[in-house]
Amino acid sequence: MSEKKKIPSVGPWLFFVSLLQMGRDPLDFIQTNREKYGDIFRINLPIGNLVVVTSPAYAQHVLQEKNRNYQKSFAYDILKIFLGNGLLTSEGDFWRKQRRLAQPAFHRERLAEIVQTMSELAGEMADEWKEIKKEGKPFDITIQMNRITLDIVSKALFGADVRSDLELVRNAITVANEFAIARIRYLTKRIPLWIPTKENKEFKKAAKALDDLLYSIIDNRIANPIERHDLLAMLMEAKDEDTGEGMSHKQLRDESMTLFIAGHETSALALSWAWYMLATHPEVMAKLKEELKEVLNGKLPGFADIPKLTYTRQIVDETLRMFPPAYIIGRRPIDTDELAGNVINKNTNVLVAVYDIHHNPELWDEPEKFKPERFAPENAKKIPKYAYFPFGGGPRLCIGNNFALMEMQIVLATLAQRFDFTLVSPQKPEFDPLITLRSKTSIMMQLN
Ligand code: HEM
Repeated sequence: MSEKKKIPSVGPWLFFVSLLQMGRDPLDFIQTNREKYGDIFRINLPIGNLVVVTSPAYAQHVLQEKNRNYQKSFAYDILKIFLGNGLLTSEGDFWRKQRRLAQPAFHRERLAEIVQTMSELAGEMADEWKEIKKEGKPFDITIQMNRITLDIVSKALFGADVRSDLELVRNAITVANEFAIARIRYLTKRIPLWIPTKENKEFKKAAKALDDLLYSIIDNRIANPIERHDLLAMLMEAKDEDTGEGMSHKQLRDESMTLFIAGHETSALALSWAWYMLATHPEVMAKLKEELKEVLNGKLPGFADIPKLTYTRQIVDETLRMFPPAYIIGRRPIDTDELAGNVINKNTNVLVAVYDIHHNPELWDEPEKFKPERFAPENAKKIPKYAYFPFGGGPRLCIGNNFALMEMQIVLATLAQRFDFTLVSPQKPEFDPLITLRSKTSIMMQLN
């Protein structure tokens, strides 16, 4: 066994200052401490340590090699309050069984059909944007991207149209996101739900609105069974191998809520950041348009075009490097673990620093520059394992990774082909790292 080391500690007597700094700006906090202490450091808390790991090898160790010894971190206990026990938050054999059930909804043949839906919906959005262009008014790109990804996930996975509920879903997710992150970061915010504080009341209202929406989709399908083979149908038809029983109403809700939320918020954010980068990098936009002219020449993209849209894909990959929506992935060891000689006690929350690894100058040349060519095939093969992992890794890898990559390609290709964008927000957007990597201010665009 290697020599045991003590993990360097950040401000041992000032844990509350560290926590505040971490809460305020986790990205800067991690970078500063990585530069000071190296790829692994800890914050001592009165209720146990928090360990941050920020190297590809450590990420691989936690997410892949030793995955059986790592459960999801405390943050996921908080997410459970509104996601329930679905694919993202469940563990062990139960998770394995549910993952097997949901997986076919993301197989290649299904994705080929889903791409068709994505393309039609992106085409509809392009038609509506003609009006926005005529009016010449600036618009919030994140709201538009939320709309399209919500439309796509609802239609493709649940056969439902939730366009009229966009505002409700957006607001409810913002409330839930802020509620969850406050509870994760601050002990003082962990007030039992039954106590009617302002935050608790707001959260319960938001959670009920989302619940009502998801239950109405499920109940509508139960009342009007139709021949479909989307995700909802697969979940509804699934029978337990031992008991022959179907999924309970509550389990259907938990899996559906998880897919509904995980399946659109992350892609919407990534797409918004992609538009921001395209609007501020005209040379990249010009090269993208060249590819779109050559491959699509005015038509809507289809499944067969996906592998041909190579530069579009490089833009997607580079956006996910610079702006990984899941900027930290958290785990907890079930048994005490040793990581390169560092002892990690059982139940310690370990934060795998995705954003920091994606921006580390020792791994990336000019990491703050937007250079899609990094992901051209000849360059991509030189990227070390786990230097780039926006979808996580190991068995808990995002189930929707191909879905998301295709969706981003389709949406970018359809809209960039028809419009030119100008950024009209006065300042550079500042990060708002909640559960996902949002922007503090609206990213406003104008179409020309
Ligand atoms: C750009 C878009 C997306 C990003 C960056 C992203 C990122 C991630 C990451 C990092 C994880 C792993 C979390 C962990 O290990 O704790 C994850 C899991 C998951 N994602 Fe995604 N995701 C995206 C899109 C999607 C889409 C489109 C769907 C569904 C349609 C989806 C559904 C899920 C689910 C269900 C899980 C849990 C999987 C499991 O543990 O079995 N995601 N995602």
